[in-house]
Amino acid sequence: MRPARRKLLESGRSLLAELVAQDDWLPDTHAAPDVLGYRQYLLHCDGLSRFSVVAFVWGPGQATPVHDHTVWGLIGCCAVPKSRRPMRSMTQSLRPKGAARRIEPGEIEAVSPTIGDIHRVANAYADRTSISIHVYGDDIGAVRRSVYDEAGNARPFVSSYADTGLPNIWGARSGAGVLQLKPSP
Ligand code: FE2
Repeated sequence: MRPARRKLLESGRSLLAELVAQDDWLPDTHAAPDVLGYRQYLLHCDGLSRFSVVAFVWGPGQATPVHDHTVWGLIGCCAVPKSRRPMRSMTQSLRPKGAARRIEPGEIEAVSPTIGDIHRVANAYADRTSISIHVYGDDIGAVRRSVYDEAGNARPFVSSYADTGLPNIWGARSGAGVLQLKPSP
């Protein structure tokens, strides 16, 4: 890995750990699960698409298909406000082989094409909602990437984001409907 990328991931890991250590900043509009599948709420996209921050909300037992990102990514688990059901952990499995890794609240997991990009993420619990915050080195909802079937065959997809009408809670790309929320200092 190039030194600049390593430094970026190290810095990002530290910042994301700081962010997910707080559990009171995520608005309800960006923390609602969906019985039909996990939700991806865009929290912020850099104006030049250099990075994006996304809240993933996982209903009980929900999981992604096996997929890649093609860019660097950081995954951090957080607890949610006490008024909502708490999340506790996630699992991530790399294919085609590898032990599932539980990501506990406050822990940060990194993915990238150089350190391992193809994986699956799942709510480790079958009876509660989980929330994780992901940071990617692009506008991840617009990136053309792939999902993989059991035989390893790639199929292109673009994930997009859940439609909240509030695309960026930390500054707007659209300029409209922005919540003025920031993580606690
Ligand atoms: Fe992923």
